[in-house]
Amino acid sequence: MNRIPDIIIAIDGYSSTGKSTFAKMVAAEYGFLYLDSGAMYRGVTLAGLEAGTIRDGKIDQARTLEVMGPLQLNFRQEEGATRLYLGDRCIEKEIRGWEVSQYVSPVSAIAQVRAWVDERLHAFAAGGRVIMDGRDIGTTVFPDAQLKIFMTADAAVRAQRRYEELLLKGEKTTLEEVLENLKDRDYRDSHRETSPLRQAADAYVLDNTHMTLHEELVWVMGLLQGKFAILESPGLSC
Ligand code: DC
Repeated sequence: MNRIPDIIIAIDGYSSTGKSTFAKMVAAEYGFLYLDSGAMYRGVTLAGLEAGTIRDGKIDQARTLEVMGPLQLNFRQEEGATRLYLGDRCIEKEIRGWEVSQYVSPVSAIAQVRAWVDERLHAFAAGGRVIMDGRDIGTTVFPDAQLKIFMTADAAVRAQRRYEELLLKGEKTTLEEVLENLKDRDYRDSHRETSPLRQAADAYVLDNTHMTLHEELVWVMGLLQGKFAILESPGLSC
């Protein structure tokens, strides 16, 4: 495996652009710890739904913050994957469900939620050699990250990919609903007051509308080689 230095790689971009798939692939190829910052916002949202502070289309902000305070949300490394735990319970599956997806954007717009999550993200990444994906990693969480990538893709293509994923999971939804949710989240994420989604000035743009995962890997390998002066390439695994 190539020795890329112990850096932080920040991946930001719109919903369903394949940030986590891409980040996991880079993590596996180069031996980085992968951390999904969106999972933390999803974890807080799930806890609010379970406590009843989020329901019927409304978020009781004060009570949701009370629920969040003592939450034990932690990442664990298991079988080569990073999974989110709430106490001793693995919540990876629940946080990806439709209900959480509908509320997570407004929950993540609450300034106190962002501060709470950011503090934890810094603690998780303290050891370095981390690749983290989200919406504000290169702009707010790690503005000094040594490599920043901003991912984008055509909205219709993203919706189709996400819809197929949800169908495989047995979720009942339509392509139109998925596209609406995606556009709504893009709008909310880029127009909120605290740390809106935007491309960092020093980010490299990856538009994967017409790219395969393999092509994305080749793209990032070129970038890493050019930026960190690495001559050989790792074995391609996809
Ligand atoms: O990446 P995701 O779809 O799992 O993220 C869920 C939500 O969390 C998304 O709508 C925006 C928010 N989010 C954020 O505001 N900042 C981040 N760094 C990561 C996610």
